[in-house]
Amino acid sequence: TADARESMYLVSEFAQRYFQDVLHNTEEGKAIGYSYFKERGFTSDTIKKFGLGYSPEGYEVFSKEALGKGYQLEFLESTGLTIVREDGRMADRFRGRVMFPIHSMSGRVLGFGGRILTNDKKVAKYLNSPESDIYHKSKVLYGIFQAKQAIAKHDNCYLVEGYTDVIQFNQAGIENVVASSGTALTPDQIRLVNRLTKNITVLFDGDAAGLRASVRGIDLILEEGMNVKVCTFPDGDDPDSFARKNTHESLVAYLESNAKDFIRFKASLLMEEAANDPVKKAGLIRDMVTSISKIPDRIQREIYVQETSRIMDISEDILQNTLAQIFQKDI
Ligand code: CTP
Ligand code: MN
Ligand code: MN
Ligand code: MN
Ligand code: MN
Repeated sequence: TADARESMYLVSEFAQRYFQDVLHNTEEGKAIGYSYFKERGFTSDTIKKFGLGYSPEGYEVFSKEALGKGYQLEFLESTGLTIVREDGRMADRFRGRVMFPIHSMSGRVLGFGGRILTNDKKVAKYLNSPESDIYHKSKVLYGIFQAKQAIAKHDNCYLVEGYTDVIQFNQAGIENVVASSGTALTPDQIRLVNRLTKNITVLFDGDAAGLRASVRGIDLILEEGMNVKVCTFPDGDDPDSFARKNTHESLVAYLESNAKDFIRFKASLLMEEAANDPVKKAGLIRDMVTSISKIPDRIQREIYVQETSRIMDISEDILQNTLAQIFQKDI
């Protein structure tokens, strides 16, 4: 019910304030959490802007504090902040982690991502709130609340993978940025951006997984009738690490000279992977035409067919036939 959801928001907002308070005002929070953020180069302003916090190590300190303040166990449990064990004992979900609150477009707290402080590859780096009546992972974009004005102003949205990519871009003076939080991009997420701009620039990690995710995202964005560019990073870099190595000016220059329209991005992949292999080349041209077929606007499709013909040195007729075949199959 709406009342239950409101109670879930209120307990989540209490949790955000609590984790912030622990970060700023306790020995544990300052020594562990705050210094972690400082090491990553986050400024105090950024830490405030994103409502970052720290969850203490204790087994159930947060839950007890919340109950003491009158928040009900029912909502602590339904938001996933408290886990009630089989023996009835309470456990805090987030313990000893730096906390990234996840906000809705209007700034309500929907859930959290909590990061461990080490780079131990044996344990999951991030623990996230579970799906709930207020938190639907596939429908939120991290950072949308902080980014919405900048997205509208610049008429463009940078889409990255992670929490820290969003934050580091902000520090580098680029505020029109949101993250899919490591999940495969969904139509609901794209529609959130579509309310603010028709232009998305995909900036995924410079590794094989990031590249695959960028490619998958392209068709979904096109299907929403939006324009999509892709900018890749050197292998081993993500937007966070790349931004840290650069000044605002050199980052902006990199994005401007490396962001490619999706068709040129696909063409460049093709040149790398299939330059001397006619069979592969044919497959990838079909792949480009498949992306073009997702564009709702007919004139735009026509323009992309011409462009593909030019850059791939293949006749427009053949591309048109391929496009017609793809539409045929859909019917
Ligand atoms: N993610 C997650 N759970 C994990 C790993 C990743 O939810 N176990 C999500 C997080 O939202 C994370 C994003 O996927 O920000 C991208 O993952 P990754 O690139 O591995 O992490 P980074 O954001 O680069 O984190 P960091 O820089 O702190 O290592
Ligand atoms: Mn809902
Ligand atoms: Mn990655
Ligand atoms: Mn990353
Ligand atoms: Mn990273």
